[in-house]
Amino acid sequence: MSYVEESTVIDDTIYNLINEAFDNEREYKDSKYRNSIFTEHNEYFVKIDDGSYSIKSKEINHKVETLHTSTGAISESFEKFIKPLKLNYDEDIAILDICAGLGYNSSAAIDDFLKNSNKNLHIDMLEISKPTLAAGLMVPSPIEAHDITKKAIEKALLDADYASLELEKTEIPENIDLKIHIDDARKVIQNLPDNTYDAIFLDPFSQNMSPELVSLEFFKQFRRVIKDNGIVATYTSSAPVRMAFIEADFYVSLGPIFGRFQGGTLASPSLENLTKSLVKNDEIKMALSDVGIPFRDPNLDLSSQEILDNRTEERHKARHNTKISSAVKTPIFLGQEMDDEPLKRRVERNLAKMNIPGVLSKEAFYIVEPMNDYDEEYFEDNNTRTRVLEMIKRLDEVKNNKADF
Ligand SMILES: C[S@@+](CC[C@H](N)C(=O)[O-])C[C@H]1O[C@@H](n2cnc3c(N)ncnc32)[C@H](O)[C@@H]1O
Repeated sequence: MSYVEESTVIDDTIYNLINEAFDNEREYKDSKYRNSIFTEHNEYFVKIDDGSYSIKSKEINHKVETLHTSTGAISESFEKFIKPLKLNYDEDIAILDICAGLGYNSSAAIDDFLKNSNKNLHIDMLEISKPTLAAGLMVPSPIEAHDITKKAIEKALLDADYASLELEKTEIPENIDLKIHIDDARKVIQNLPDNTYDAIFLDPFSQNMSPELVSLEFFKQFRRVIKDNGIVATYTSSAPVRMAFIEADFYVSLGPIFGRFQGGTLASPSLENLTKSLVKNDEIKMALSDVGIPFRDPNLDLSSQEILDNRTEERHKARHNTKISSAVKTPIFLGQEMDDEPLKRRVERNLAKMNIPGVLSKEAFYIVEPMNDYDEEYFEDNNTRTRVLEMIKRLDEVKNNKADF
C-alpha cells in the first residue's frame, strides 16, 4: 500500500464513493455526482454536538474514529487553534494549516481574521488526501467562512484534474490568499520559506497512526519556517510530542482543554505568547523516563511503522541506561514519601539501575530540585523548558557519577 493510501484513513466506502463521483464528474461534466453524495450516503457523515459534520475513519483496532472530536468540529477549531493564538491583526498574517482535512481550522482562522482585520491573510493548507478535501466540499458549511475555503479547495482539485466543474459560488476576498498543497506535509514543508508563519496548526490523527507528523525532524522544519514570535497549536498532550518540540528548540506550554481530559500543547520559539506551564508530573515523566523519547524520521521519509518500531527499540535501549523506566510512573516518586511498600520496592528497583539509591536519597532530591520552583506561570528563567532540560542534565550527572551535591 502506498504512503498516500495508508495515511488516508477516511472510511473505505466513502473514500471510494467520492473518488467514483469525481471520476463521473470528469467524464460526464455533470454536477449531480458531487452533489448527491452527502444526501445519498449520509451515514458516513457524522453530525456532531455543535451541528458541524465530520467523517468516519476506517476501522482501526476495532474502533471507528471521526476526523474530529464528538464535542464539535468547528468549535474545536476555534477553541484549540484560534483562541490561543493572540494574533496581531494590525499586521499581515501567515498561517500554516497542517492536515487541512475538511478545511475547518482554516475556515475558523478566516472567520476570526475577517472580524478583526483589514490587512492580508495568507494560509498554506497541507493535506495529502484529495477525497478528504473533496468531502469538505460536500458537508454543509458550519460557518460562512467555510464557503471561502470551499472555493479554494475546489480550485485546487480543479488544478489537480480531480474535479472538472466550477460549482462553488463564493468569491475569495482579495485580501485572503489560500494555497492548498495536496501532498505529504513532510515533503511540502521542506520547500516552504524560512521565518514566515505567525501560526502553525498541527491536526494529525493520533501519534500511533501518524507518528511521522509529530517527529523531531518534522518539528525542526517548523522551527525553520515559523517566525520567532509564532505559535504552534496542537490538540495532543503526548510526552514524546512535547519533548520533540523542546528538542527542536521550542518552549512548550499547556493548551486549552476541549473535548478531552488533558489540555493540548502550544509551542513557540519565544516565551512572550506562552503563559501556562505543563502539569508538574508530566514535566517529570517526559524529562526523566523513556516515555519522553521522541519519534524520529531523520530524512522525513520513513513509514509510520518504521518510526514506531524504531522508537520502541530506542526506548528499550534507553531504559535503565540513559532514562529511568517509565513503568509504574517511577520518576514521579523521586523525593516523595511512599506508603505502598510493594510499589515502593518496584520503584526503587528501577531507580537503583540509574544509580539512585532510593526515593528519598540525596540523588533523588538533586534530580527533581528544579521542580521546587515549579509555578503554573511562565518566567524567563523558570518554565517548562528550563526545568525539563535541567532535570535531564542532572539525571545524566547522577547516572555517570558526576553530580556535585
Ligand atoms: C484529524 S484529520 C484533520 C481534520 C482537519 N484539520 C479539518 O479541519 O477537517 C487529519 C488529516 O491528516 C491528513 N494526513 C494524513 N497524513 C498526512 C500527511 N502526511 N500529510 C498531509 N496530510 C496528512 C488526513 O488525510 C486527514 O485529513
